[in-house]
Amino acid sequence: MKKLFIVANWKSHKTTKEIEDWFEKFHSGIKSIELMDKSIIICPPQTLLSKTKQLIEKYQLTYSIGSQNVSPFDEGAYTGEISAKQIKEFANYTIIGHSERRTYFHEDYEMLSKKVSQAKACGVTPIFCIQGKSTTLPSGIEIVAFEPVDAIGTGNPDTPEDAERVAGEVKVSHNTPYILYGGSVTGDNVHSFTEQPSINGVLVGSASLDPQEFLEIISNA
Ligand code: PGA
Repeated sequence: MKKLFIVANWKSHKTTKEIEDWFEKFHSGIKSIELMDKSIIICPPQTLLSKTKQLIEKYQLTYSIGSQNVSPFDEGAYTGEISAKQIKEFANYTIIGHSERRTYFHEDYEMLSKKVSQAKACGVTPIFCIQGKSTTLPSGIEIVAFEPVDAIGTGNPDTPEDAERVAGEVKVSHNTPYILYGGSVTGDNVHSFTEQPSINGVLVGSASLDPQEFLEIISNA
C-alpha cells in the first residue's frame, strides 16, 4: 500500500480554546478510522505548537507536528523570527514556499533555500510547496506539495489528471519520493487525488479547520 501524508495547515486560525475543542472532537472520531499507511501532520500557528504537542500527548495520538514557517537564519538577533532549532522542540516538519508566503511576505527562492538549509540542519523535514512545474525546487527535497494558486481557498480544485501529470513529472525530474496535492481538498474529492499513482497525500487548508471534515478526508483518502 502507498504511503500517504495528510497535512492540516491551519494558517492564522485558532486559539488555545479552539484547538482544545478541535482535538476533543477529533480524538473521539479518529478511533473508528483505520489509518493504515496514512501519516497525519498537523501544522498549527506558531503560538500553538506547544499546546498541540501537549494535546497529541494527552490523547496518545501518533501524529506529527509541522510548523507553517521557519526562520532563514540560525538562532541570533532576528526579532520576531523562530529558528529551526526552536521549531524542532515541537515539530518534525515545516511548510516552506507556500504561495501565501511568496505573495504576502515576498519570500523568494534565495530565502526559501536558506529556510530549507536551516530546517534540514536541525532535522526538520521541509514540505516544499510549488505552484507549478516551473517553480524552482531546491535539491534533496523529500516532500513536495503541488498547490496551484487558483485552487487555494477557492473551492475550485485542480483536476486529478492535471495534478497527476505535474506530480509525475516532478517526481521524475527531481527524484522526489513524495508529492502531495493541495488546493480546495475536501472529504468528497480527496480520493480522486490520492488514487493517482504519483500523488502521496494532500495538504489541506480550510477543510482541516473542522474536525469532522478533516476526519472525513482521512477516512476517504
Ligand atoms: P485550501 O488551502 O485547502 O483552503 O485550498 C490549501 C493550502 O493553502 O495549503
